[in-house]
Amino acid sequence: MSREFEAASGWIANNLMSRPWAISIEITHNCNANCLHCDKGEHIKDEKRASIEEYLRIYKEAKPIVVQISGGEPMMRKDYLDIVKAFHNPGHMPYLVFVTNAGLLTEEKYDELKAAGVDKFSISIDFPDERHDENRKVKGLFKHLDELIPKIMAKGNNDVTMITAVTRKNYPYLMDNLRIVEGWGAALNFSMYTSGRTGDEDLLIRSAEDLKKFRAVMDQLIEAKRQGSLIFSSEEILNRYYAFFENGAKTGNCKVGKRSFVVNPDGSICPCAMKKDLAYKTHKEIKQIFVRHNTCDQCFISLRANTEKPIWELVRDIWSTRASL
Ligand SMILES: C[S@@+](CC[C@H](N)C(=O)[O-])C[C@H]1O[C@@H](n2cnc3c(N)ncnc32)[C@H](O)[C@@H]1O
Ligand code: SF4
Ligand code: SF4
Repeated sequence: MSREFEAASGWIANNLMSRPWAISIEITHNCNANCLHCDKGEHIKDEKRASIEEYLRIYKEAKPIVVQISGGEPMMRKDYLDIVKAFHNPGHMPYLVFVTNAGLLTEEKYDELKAAGVDKFSISIDFPDERHDENRKVKGLFKHLDELIPKIMAKGNNDVTMITAVTRKNYPYLMDNLRIVEGWGAALNFSMYTSGRTGDEDLLIRSAEDLKKFRAVMDQLIEAKRQGSLIFSSEEILNRYYAFFENGAKTGNCKVGKRSFVVNPDGSICPCAMKKDLAYKTHKEIKQIFVRHNTCDQCFISLRANTEKPIWELVRDIWSTRASL
């Protein structure tokens, strides 16, 4: 059975059986950065961590199609390669996405991660220049990306999607991000900033003036996409992203918990990264306790936008950009 067929049949089976499409395993909450828009950035001593076998047990119970290895910064864990290897099932599911700020990534480490089984890399870019360093509090990070990503792309694996978490501070520069990322040969994805992590509502796009300008930027991105730019987010999603902010940073009908969930370093599971106060032991518990009553509409992050779209949109978007969630 081809991997694509397995993924398609897995998608149908998971929908019928209320299993998730994707899980995000936050293997550590430590981070080498300290981004303005995120709640991570501390160095947690003695972080409680589950065994790799426990992460695998959760995966096997939920049987998602996509496993994201994320954090915090996943490369802050010494055994990140062992974790990737444990999930790698050559020629079969899961589809492995490694989510990183790439500050600790080198060409050699990329090769090791590839050999270990990573299918796609999702790498953050907030700004098209050194403002990225300021936003992430990591000196030299933009220069590092500028040197590293073209070298990785030259290997010909077509496996890097850069991702911008869009805030009031960086939305005017999204076209510049696109041009930079295109110059590197990679695809670009977007996620909308939520104040659910930080409590900072000042980074939301809310004023009539900002919304008007943001609409114009989205129209430019849509046009660039039509002209062939490798933007992972489809036209529909770009419009839904705009609508999220236009609607006061709210989008209802959240399917999180059903279509995706997050695994914490200690092996507890929660519906999403913004609901850390809710920790469950099993996916069944999330569905029974959380999903039934969830009315939260506070975010429209990429994972939510992409796992909530109809299958034909998902297949078309992956096919057209060969990009990742
Ligand atoms: C939490 S980070 C973990 C992986 C890695 N440390 C990184 O930054 O890529 C995953 C993604 O979430 C985004 N993110 C962080 N805080 C966010 C927020 N408040 N709203 C939306 N996206 C956010 C980051 O920019 C990044 O693209
Ligand atoms: S977005 Fe990523 S790099 Fe930035 S603080 Fe959060 S976990 Fe760390
Ligand atoms: S809308 Fe859904 S994914 Fe977003 S914060 Fe609320 S529960 Fe989490």
